Amino acid sequence: MRAKVLNKLIEVSPEYVSGEQLSCDLGVTRTSVWKCINELKKEGYVIDSSTKKGYRLLELPDIISVGEITCLLDTAVVGKEIRYLPTVDSTNNYAKKIAQEGCTDGAVVIADCQSNGRGRMGRNWNSADKKGIWMSVLLRPSISIEDVQVITLAASVAVVNAIKDSLGIEAGIKWPNDVLLDGKKVCGILTEMSLEMERVNYLVLGIGLNVNQDTVDFPEEIADRAISLKSYLMENMNASGKTLRRVELIKSILYNLDSIYAKINSGRLNEILDDWRKNALTLGREVCITHKDMKYIGIARDITSEGKLVVDCRDGITREVLSGEVSVRGLLGYI
Ligand code: BTN
Repeated sequence: MRAKVLNKLIEVSPEYVSGEQLSCDLGVTRTSVWKCINELKKEGYVIDSSTKKGYRLLELPDIISVGEITCLLDTAVVGKEIRYLPTVDSTNNYAKKIAQEGCTDGAVVIADCQSNGRGRMGRNWNSADKKGIWMSVLLRPSISIEDVQVITLAASVAVVNAIKDSLGIEAGIKWPNDVLLDGKKVCGILTEMSLEMERVNYLVLGIGLNVNQDTVDFPEEIADRAISLKSYLMENMNASGKTLRRVELIKSILYNLDSIYAKINSGRLNEILDDWRKNALTLGREVCITHKDMKYIGIARDITSEGKLVVDCRDGITREVLSGEVSVRGLLGYI
């Protein structure tokens, strides 16, 4: 009910809506409306109450409200089921757990804080409380194992699109799926999968997007390689440093992921690869690939239909790399 009241207030904002109108539209008593308004105020929503005009929303806080995310979220699959947790070890771990329990395709897990956020290559992922979007999306795609990497690439395209749609900022992608701004990492994606009889049982896309950190919030060892959306806006667009609302970004990511997922399920993988190429920072650059104990330097020329990076190496051999550490020379922080 609280979510319904909130969504009505958002819908009519900046106008007032009377208590009577709300109770009539939602089919509840005016006392229940009044109770919901008080609960919302306690949560941090700033609502003006006027005896004559009713209620008016003055300020939306940066809190993750599932009701607000699902309101007008026009998706086919992604985000039909959303679980919010104030804190969890890792949203990927939680998503894997609910996947085993049979949750629906497109289920989403979001946390304010992760005590053991995990990154690629066994690294930790700094997931400070309420500073970013720590979210995992469970997918049950009908694809072959060979095409899984394309979904990994697709997730970064969805994040780039969401950043563009919500804030008008153009981010780029470092292969396979790091999203960069000013050569620094604003988003990392950890894909994990479960296989059954050589088929993809489910996939977990773990998205970590730095939203409201100031430079001092990042641990020293990553401070020169990480950036948040808020600090990018302050440094490049003269923004005031106002806290960005994560809910808006989450909605946009889910919406973009949903439309990309529809492409995946209808076999339009080429469109995704082309979208990835358009946003790629890696292609045409000199890269250094570290894979197991080997190190190759060469020019990243393209990606294959399976999302492998094609590198024309200095030793004259063209190699197709499926995974590994890539440093893109000439990109700040990744030299
Ligand atoms: C990377 O190393 O670039 C990937 C980072 C992925 C971080 C996200 S945050 C949400 C999800 N849960 C995790 O434990 N990791 C991913």
